[in-house]
Amino acid sequence: MTYAAITGWGSAMPQSVLSNEDLSTFLDTNDEWITTRTGMKERRISHVTATEMATLAARRALACAGLDPADVELIVYGSCSNDEIVPNSASGVQTSLGAKRAASMDINTACTSFLYSLSTATAMIRTGVVRNAVVIGVELISPYMDWSNRNVAVLFGDGCAAVVVQASNKQEGILGEQLGCLADVRHTLRVRGMGVAYANLGVTYGNTSWDFDGQEIFRHAVQGMTQASQAVMAKCGVTAADIDLVVPHQANLRIIEAVVTRAGLPMDKVMLTVQRYGNMSAATVPVALTEALEQGRVKPGALILMPAFGGGLTVCSHLVRWGERVEPLGRYDGDLPKPTRSALDMVNDMRARKAASSERSEPGLRDARLT
Ligand code: ACO
Repeated sequence: MTYAAITGWGSAMPQSVLSNEDLSTFLDTNDEWITTRTGMKERRISHVTATEMATLAARRALACAGLDPADVELIVYGSCSNDEIVPNSASGVQTSLGAKRAASMDINTACTSFLYSLSTATAMIRTGVVRNAVVIGVELISPYMDWSNRNVAVLFGDGCAAVVVQASNKQEGILGEQLGCLADVRHTLRVRGMGVAYANLGVTYGNTSWDFDGQEIFRHAVQGMTQASQAVMAKCGVTAADIDLVVPHQANLRIIEAVVTRAGLPMDKVMLTVQRYGNMSAATVPVALTEALEQGRVKPGALILMPAFGGGLTVCSHLVRWGERVEPLGRYDGDLPKPTRSALDMVNDMRARKAASSERSEPGLRDARLT
């Protein structure tokens, strides 16, 4: 039987930090509310495109795996904030890497996009379609954030990480996964203004308004991730005591605590980044996994549980067996260019652009025909 081992990992985090104090300079909010309700202290704002972040993360993951870009057979780009829709974003990473032999695809299941991408790549490796893949989780949320809405503006950040997956005859990589979608409550999270439904309605792209029912999402996220985690553990014949590390989606510290407790796991087995990066949607799990490896928290042969949820509302949980190697084979030393403006300055620019165009967009945002 062929398995799909994770053999490379790397992140690409934008350097500019937006603190809770920065947010309170233009929103009616404060550090105490954000910290106690979400666990978040700061998040990153990117000065480069999502494809640039993804290319750097992919280069780092390939160096870590010791795989030449020319030998890559598949690139899967998990995101809901693509720089462009046509051409797809994975092809942009492909050309920057010089991965001439690769097939390239984008997958959007919102915050679960990386994990659905990992499932897709794993299935294609197991069935012999390809022998290796670069799987990316990337998000550039700041340009389509509604910076006037404190319910959402404090929650999200930009970021990226990637892994390399390769065919193996050892039982490594995904052992099992549980995927689902609570489509009946898809209306609880909608970004009005993104997509072709708005194209002929005078809506300026990026001029968004978020439908967001935080408490409903919270409830379904806890229930969905707990059930998916219990289902995947039962499917694979393991119990909570067998899990060495939990690398969950990082939307809210309270959501993570609720899921982990219900699944019968202690919090000291959980890799947390939510305090420093907020919710980076598709990027949260691969960034947390990369940092867990860098901090020595992934031991050879470790059993890792990865529960996540996202707009849709998609839910999933993956059980991964790590291989023997927890150190990179090589390193790519390049970095993102240095930002020339602070995170707060970049956000204030976005707010000013939105203010200039919002009057024209307002009716279109409401009139789009949606399910
Ligand atoms: N600062 C200060 N006060 C605020 C803020 C803020 N940023 N946001 C909301 N409040 C106020 C509300 O207006 C409300 O005031 P009121 O009582 O006077 O009406 C009060 O705080 C309490 O609001 P609640 O909604 O009850 O707060 P709650 O404890 O539920 O926390 C939160 C809200 C953090 C949004 C939580 O519900 C949550 O995390 N939900 C999950 C959301 C999520 O993670 N979504 C990501 C989806 S993933 C994807 O695919 C993109």
